[in-house]
Amino acid sequence: MPDLNDATRGRILYGADYNPEQWPESVWHDDIRLMREAGVTTVTVGVFSWAMLEPRPGAREFDWLDRVLDLLHQGGIEVCLATPTASPPPWMGARHPETLPRDETGGVVWYGSRNQFCASSPVYRDYALRITEDLADRYGGHPALRMWHVGNEYGTHCWCDTTAAHFRRWLRAKYGRLDALNEAWGTAFWSQRYDSWEEIIPPRRAQYLGNPAQALDFRRFTSDALLECFTAERDALAARTPHIPVTTNFMPLFIGQDGWAWAAEEDVVSVDVYPDPKDPHGGAYGAMIHDLTRSQAGGPWVLMEQAAGPVNWRGVNHPKPHGLMRLWSLQAVARGADGVCFFQWRQSRQGSEKFHSGMVPHSGEHSRTYRQVRELGAALRELGGATGTDVPARAAILHDWHAWWASVQDGRPSSRLHYEQVLRAWHQALWERNLTTDFAHPHADLADYALIAVPHLYLLTDEALENLAGYVRGGGTLVCGFFTGVADEDDRVRPGGVDQRLRDILGLRTVHEWWPLDEGETVTAESPWLGPFTGTLWSEDLETATAERVARIKGGELDGLPAVTRNAYGDGTAWYVSTLPEPAALRALLGRAADEAGVSPPLPGIPEGVEAVLRGDLLFLLNHGRSPAVVPLPSARTDLLTGRAYDTQVRLDRFAVVALAPL
Ligand code: GLA
Repeated sequence: MPDLNDATRGRILYGADYNPEQWPESVWHDDIRLMREAGVTTVTVGVFSWAMLEPRPGAREFDWLDRVLDLLHQGGIEVCLATPTASPPPWMGARHPETLPRDETGGVVWYGSRNQFCASSPVYRDYALRITEDLADRYGGHPALRMWHVGNEYGTHCWCDTTAAHFRRWLRAKYGRLDALNEAWGTAFWSQRYDSWEEIIPPRRAQYLGNPAQALDFRRFTSDALLECFTAERDALAARTPHIPVTTNFMPLFIGQDGWAWAAEEDVVSVDVYPDPKDPHGGAYGAMIHDLTRSQAGGPWVLMEQAAGPVNWRGVNHPKPHGLMRLWSLQAVARGADGVCFFQWRQSRQGSEKFHSGMVPHSGEHSRTYRQVRELGAALRELGGATGTDVPARAAILHDWHAWWASVQDGRPSSRLHYEQVLRAWHQALWERNLTTDFAHPHADLADYALIAVPHLYLLTDEALENLAGYVRGGGTLVCGFFTGVADEDDRVRPGGVDQRLRDILGLRTVHEWWPLDEGETVTAESPWLGPFTGTLWSEDLETATAERVARIKGGELDGLPAVTRNAYGDGTAWYVSTLPEPAALRALLGRAADEAGVSPPLPGIPEGVEAVLRGDLLFLLNHGRSPAVVPLPSARTDLLTGRAYDTQVRLDRFAVVALAPL
């Protein structure tokens, strides 16, 4: 199986989506000159070229793409060639309206934008496969080709009749008998019992609350249906070019795809990351996406898209202050990226993304942005030796799309509880303590981790519960967040409200009631270990069995009840956190659990705002703060980016990065 090393061959991939079809050919030569000057190694071509390649059904216009690929090759630029199947041409929707998705109300999602395809449509799939096969036949032997990029950000939804029939096939394969489906979906409730498979439809708009188990299965099905589109194209490519790795770019922490299942089908895992430059926690957010993507990949991965400056899809779109683009790019490398790419190479002059930045902005090559692009290219050249190396982590956060899907239903204790918000808060707390964190599936082998954090997994399968029990029994440290282990994989509430196995691990007798908190509402907790702190979002009427009380709630209806507990279980330790502690308290709590578990940052004495992460034998230090910081060094090292040697300390200006190699 080909992998990322086949594309990088010892260099960090540096480039962008390149859309030459938007420009006259005279500009292409200029593009290649500027790419070379910037140190661009690889560009992704053809992502949205379907209507140019197949202007009418079955026609093929490849000449322009031949010229583009030849020019790139002559310029020494390699190509990640995209299948154009994210955006069917208008003729497909006009001639085959059944390829157009329908929303929950049955309304048509028209062409005129992009992504207007029904993943279950055999007509769409057939056209997509044929253009993919023809691209592979034509360019599979092209010397510029290094990687395939299938589609773009898979994530469409459809509720049409073709989808309904496909959903029924999927359900039959899963349940076999209709009785089993009725049982799993709890259709005894509200007279929802199905008498024949034909009655079953996707969860379309209904009078009142829908069936949550049906909604959960529909999310599973939708992810699988899209994955079938991806694997069909991947197989066509792999059959023709078994030596060329295949990827598709994920959206960051995107709810619509089971990212574990998808990553397992890719040769290279890649993701698009767009933190808001104004977000003071943008660095933490980026780190979380990097850690998740590295974990999905099981090693190096590719940052397939980021913005050189502003995006155009936030209410107000902020440029990146000088140095931030470099900082966030090198952060990705520090956390395992072997590729740093952008959307897009040259900023468009037309279309709905003309105010989205590019590596070459409207203001051209004599611009601040392009200058920084060139500087980044030079920096990445120095880091080629890092490709293929690992980012060691002794802590992991458990994450599962199925639990996320189950948690987004209506009719739950609090509509204010958002899975990704809790995940982000916990990851940020670990990141701020410079504890490098992987993500892991709840069924994964956890033996190599000294600390496991479960911020919030509403749904835990039997296998996951046994896995956690085995992990803690064997000496592991678990820190478990609220409203976890409540449902089984059919979204059926576990006997007792929280699974008995989890309560045993945590040393809890019972959770009498959930006490979710309103906007602006807090609980106050006190703890000899953690000091006083407030919690938001959630609280619980909790009764312990064997667990000690680390923090108690002070005041209010739950006065005196445990907020944080700690339990000895087998050879290990299990903590429970029944609220969302304010950031400093969550940091202290996870830091304490990590200390006890023997998990420590890569070096002591790192000042606030500085990220320290090890990749292979390189120590990256990244200053996310707005003022200079000084980091003490235990031993002398050399910065690969500048060649400068440091003995006892490094001074980092705002947004500065060093990549320190042992002497
Ligand atoms: C996504 C898409 C790109 C582009 C960017 C804009 O990541 O994949 O085609 O639309 O967003 O930020």
